[in-house]
Amino acid sequence: SYDAGPYVPEGAGLPELRSAAADCHGCPLYRDATQTVFGAGEPTARLVLVGEEPGDQEDRRGAPFVGPAGRVLDRALVDAGIDPDDAYLTNAVKHFKFAPRGKRRIHKPPTLREAAACRPWLTAELRLIEPEVIVALGATAGKALLGSSFRVTRQRGTRLPWSGEGADTVVATIHPSAVLRADDAEREAAYAGLVADLKVAARALA
Ligand code: URA
Repeated sequence: SYDAGPYVPEGAGLPELRSAAADCHGCPLYRDATQTVFGAGEPTARLVLVGEEPGDQEDRRGAPFVGPAGRVLDRALVDAGIDPDDAYLTNAVKHFKFAPRGKRRIHKPPTLREAAACRPWLTAELRLIEPEVIVALGATAGKALLGSSFRVTRQRGTRLPWSGEGADTVVATIHPSAVLRADDAEREAAYAGLVADLKVAARALA
C-alpha cells in the first residue's frame, strides 16, 4: 500500500529529509510530477502553514507557494501581521497531481490515501521544527492533521487543541486558492476571512 514511511530517514535534520524526499516513491504521484516539493522556511519558525499539494509552478520551481495561491498567502500573512521568518510553508502532499489538458496541467486534489501516504514527511517536519502553532490551509491539510471528520466551515478561525507533533494548537482556515476561485462579489470577503483566521494564529503565538 502507499506509504512514505520507509523513505523517511530516522534521526535526520531538515536538509537530510529534503534530500530523501526527493527520491520518495511512497505513492504513484512521483511518476508524473517534475520533482518533490518539500517545505521551505526557517527551521526555527514558530508557525508552520500546511497547504494541500504543490501547484503547476511549484512543481516546476521546486518550492511551495510560489505561484498565484502563494501570492495571495504572502499578502494575507503580511496583512495578519505575521513575519515571513516566523512561517515555514509546506504541503500535506509533496507532489503535484494533475490531469493533462492540451498543453496545460489541471490540478487534481490528492485522495485521502495519498495524503495519508505522505503524512510521515509532515510528521518529520513538525517534529524537527516544533512550531508553536500549525495552520491548516483548506480541507486536505485539515484532514491530514485532524482526521477525516474535519470540516473547514465548522472549524476555521478558532484555536483547536492538538496533541500531535510539535505545536499544541492548530488553526484552520480556507485555502488561499479559494480566494482566487471566488466570484468577484465574494472575493474580498473570502480574503478578509483568510486574514482574520491568520490573525487568530498570530495571536496564539506565545
Ligand atoms: N497550493 C498549495 O496547497 N500548495 C502550494 O504549494 C501551492 C498551491
